[in-house]
Amino acid sequence: MIDQKLVDKAFEALEFSHSPYSNFKVGACVETFDGRFFFGTNIENASYGGTICAERNAINNAVSHGEREFKTLYLMTSSDEICYPCNLCKQTFLEFFDKDVMFNIMTKNGKMEILSFEKVMNTTFTKEDLV
Ligand code: THU
Repeated sequence: MIDQKLVDKAFEALEFSHSPYSNFKVGACVETFDGRFFFGTNIENASYGGTICAERNAINNAVSHGEREFKTLYLMTSSDEICYPCNLCKQTFLEFFDKDVMFNIMTKNGKMEILSFEKVMNTTFTKEDLV
């Protein structure tokens, strides 16, 4: 089941991306069980290691507002093909997500995959995703 509101939020976040170095825009939106939404975008830094991914910004935003339990994460990238979360983000999922959190992973141009927590944990984000 796809929630258009969350798709729109992920898109809104993607549009806020600060990604002058990679030109790779990402938006993420997490939903809590009581229907609250928190989004985040990727924010790059001239000191590259200071870059923070959209997923972690969305989760950190929610946690900063007192949320600890999540139902879904919607992720949207500006790439032509679907891209999966990086391992740093997966570590944050392990910290805050139960194993039944569902992922809706999309491209800006309309490709979409719905994946379980377990499936996402078995995906990769590599340099080939940046072409
Ligand atoms: N990025 C994300 O926002 N999420 C991921 O899971 C993978 C990568 C961002 C970080 C950087 O701004 C750009 O995408 C290229 O790596």
